[in-house]
Amino acid sequence: MNAIDLLLNRQSDPLLISPSPDKESIKTILSAGMRVPDHAGLTPFQFILAEGEGLNSLSEIFVDAVKLTDAEQSKLDKTAKMPFRAPLIVIVATNYQNHDKVPQSEQLITAGCSVHAMQMASFALGYGAMWRTGDLSYNDDVKKSLSIDLNEDIVGFLYIGTKAKDLAIKSSKFYDDRVSYL
Ligand SMILES: Cc1cc2nc3c(=O)[nH]c(=O)nc-3n(C[C@H](O)[C@H](O)[C@H](O)COP(=O)(O)O)c2cc1C
Repeated sequence: MNAIDLLLNRQSDPLLISPSPDKESIKTILSAGMRVPDHAGLTPFQFILAEGEGLNSLSEIFVDAVKLTDAEQSKLDKTAKMPFRAPLIVIVATNYQNHDKVPQSEQLITAGCSVHAMQMASFALGYGAMWRTGDLSYNDDVKKSLSIDLNEDIVGFLYIGTKAKDLAIKSSKFYDDRVSYL
């Protein structure tokens, strides 16, 4: 896919089914996630992949965290299903480094760029992907279960899979009211 076509047409896809990207595609997607703007080359992010049995584990982690909030059974049932909205989830969390010139805010941006790059790579390879967060991204029990330090941020759950159907490409927003000139 032409790079400009990718940049102008990338979009999210919530309707994802098996099969998961093949091993070579996963390598390409992860490599794209590594090739992001990164002040001082700190690599301030980490990726945790869940597919197959890993999705069951993630479902249990989510449900256990929600149980601690005294949630109703209907919410637990809904939560349990969440990870199965795609055959592959790449969890992206920060891995903040101490640096006198690179504040955490910049490192968080770099981690976000990783999510975006992996979504674009997925799209370019013909897969669908959707960046999701929600309450469970900010939940310390979820972080603990994923062995993510509580000082880190979960930047997103990138759901990736085969497109259930070809979605029409949405029209682009126009930039006019967001641009000014000095
Ligand atoms: C940090 C971040 C978190 C997001 N979390 C969610 C989410 O939890 N649920 C959701 O439906 N969309 C979420 N989105 C939005 C979708 O990923 C997507 O960008 C949005 O639906 C617009 O679609 P588009 O990417 O095709 O323009 C999030 C986006 C970002 C950048």
